[in-house]
Amino acid sequence: MSVIPRVEILARLGGRLLEGPAWDAPHARVLLVDIEGRRRHAVDWATGDVTTHEANETETAWIPRSAGGTVVVCRRGVRLADDDGVGELALEVEEERRSNRSNDAKCDPAGRLWLGTMSDAEDEPVGSLYRLDADLSLTRVLEGTTISNGLGWSPDARRMYFVDSPTRRVDAFAYDIGVGEASDRSVFVETTDFPGVPDGLAVDGEGCVWVAMHDGAALLRFSPDGRHVGTLDIPVPRPTSCCFAGPSLDRLVVTTAASDDGSGGDLFVCDVGVAGMPTIAFAG
Ligand code: BGC
Ligand code: CA
Repeated sequence: MSVIPRVEILARLGGRLLEGPAWDAPHARVLLVDIEGRRRHAVDWATGDVTTHEANETETAWIPRSAGGTVVVCRRGVRLADDDGVGELALEVEEERRSNRSNDAKCDPAGRLWLGTMSDAEDEPVGSLYRLDADLSLTRVLEGTTISNGLGWSPDARRMYFVDSPTRRVDAFAYDIGVGEASDRSVFVETTDFPGVPDGLAVDGEGCVWVAMHDGAALLRFSPDGRHVGTLDIPVPRPTSCCFAGPSLDRLVVTTAASDDGSGGDLFVCDVGVAGMPTIAFAG
């Protein structure tokens, strides 16, 4: 990056743990949740107006559905919902493990919803990664994850990225988009040379991966072959996730969490000079 991009506030939300931004193209809005603040927010792209919904439980992702309406990933499982995120629980996830909650979730390019779980204590490998198909059948794909986080796919959909934060790695899987199968896990990048831990991620149109470094005050950009090719400094310590947004998908929207010093918890936006992959709506 030759020009230093300007990171600006998109919405002052004063939240605790903003997460899971998604671009809702038909409504030209950004959806996001505040996991610990128990709220979800929709930010109108044209006006910047924020619509806030109080949630009576932990919600960790809010994603459009291709049939209309949205899907909310919540502590107990998955809710099929209207445009405001209001709706019934469609299936429970890990009902036997009440000290676990969901965490990051994202759809693959065919509209299958991938979601991870983790313990509230964040310190034991008792989480799993699941795939929810359009017919609402749920498959446990990985076990023994600790803080299941960033998910993404290469532009050709032949690779899936996945972060289990305490490993401080971004891993890659070979991906079969025809059936939604991830195989041949390998290390894509080690982030131990950088401050913080990897959290959410987004993939741009050149196949580069933008990784939010929680407690690292930056997003790191890695080329498809795993080289560090850029750093976007974020003015607060805890960026949590990012997604490409706007009608041309050329703005990177960054969620942040509050830190002990009181900063963070707002939504940022930046023109990073490259357009990204769209948010895929859930096909179920
Ligand atoms: C989780 C947080 C965690 C953070 C850093 C987030 O996705 O929701 O609870 O502290 O990742 O690992
Ligand atoms: Ca996350």
